[in-house]
Amino acid sequence: MCTQSIGELHALPLKSAGSNWLMCFPEFYDVQYIINPWMEGNLHAASRVQAIEQWRGLYNAISGFAHVELISPEPGLPDMVFTANAGLERDGIVVSSHFLHTERRREESFFREWFKKKGYTIADLPQEMAFEGEGDALFSNNGTVLWVGCGMRTDRRSHPLLAHVFDAKVTSLHLVDPRFYHLDTCFAPLADGFVLYYPAAFDSKSLERIHSFYPQHKRISVSEEDACRFACNAISIGQTIVLNEISRELTSRLENAGFRVLSLRLDEFLKAGGAAKCLVMRLGSPATASAPASPHSSSSMDLSSAAPSTPESEPR
Ligand code: ARG
Repeated sequence: MCTQSIGELHALPLKSAGSNWLMCFPEFYDVQYIINPWMEGNLHAASRVQAIEQWRGLYNAISGFAHVELISPEPGLPDMVFTANAGLERDGIVVSSHFLHTERRREESFFREWFKKKGYTIADLPQEMAFEGEGDALFSNNGTVLWVGCGMRTDRRSHPLLAHVFDAKVTSLHLVDPRFYHLDTCFAPLADGFVLYYPAAFDSKSLERIHSFYPQHKRISVSEEDACRFACNAISIGQTIVLNEISRELTSRLENAGFRVLSLRLDEFLKAGGAAKCLVMRLGSPATASAPASPHSSSSMDLSSAAPSTPESEPR
């Protein structure tokens, strides 16, 4: 299903001028280990030829109305294609990732080097704290709240440090279903104050937090079936939403809310537990970098002793 042709997309107004996305060509993509439930039973089951074709579809779609940057793939790092996990960037500062699973840790230095080369200021969390980047940390559309996942991959102790670096109010969301192990698999802030989410992936306190920020008419909740199609793993660029193939019913609800829905076939990546949003990381320009908020060097910040005395994030 493709509700918006690429040709039509090229005709879209450039609402998101200045929006940059980091992607990584799936040259070495494969399911080589099992670190989430989607990978079970899928060892070496993905077709690289098809994955490349699907990735190209996504690349072409996004390039139609936003700028895509590329990082070179590295042999032996089959999950590097999921650039959402490289880190989290705002105003030229990147908090680089530290993966929970050793299988992905070798990716860290390649992403870090790339950010450095491009001129971003890098903030490092203490080594013992897992943080999986934009996979687990998403700003609300108005930028006031940073939603951060915990309970699966990202360490809860990183949340106050993220609040400190980005000078944002961090709201923690506790994930409870191992199939939705990253926040971006079950939660997507959209334009105009909407949110796309799968309620059963959160504990009750987290749901209360989501509901008190997003009024009911702004919440687009998805069925388990659509959640398992990674409907919430959606790339939001202005009024356009790019995501895997979803139900006609959900497409209509999104369209009725004023969105253009671009559904692309990404099932080769589902075998590793990822879809559209996992394959991209949003980037601002390094030129917008503001001076780091403490006596750190201009190209890197060490956060090991930066935990604020009064964490801005809410306690669990
Ligand atoms: N196999 C990868 C992992 O388990 C998939 C990562 C998907 N990325 C994401 N942002 N949800 O780490």
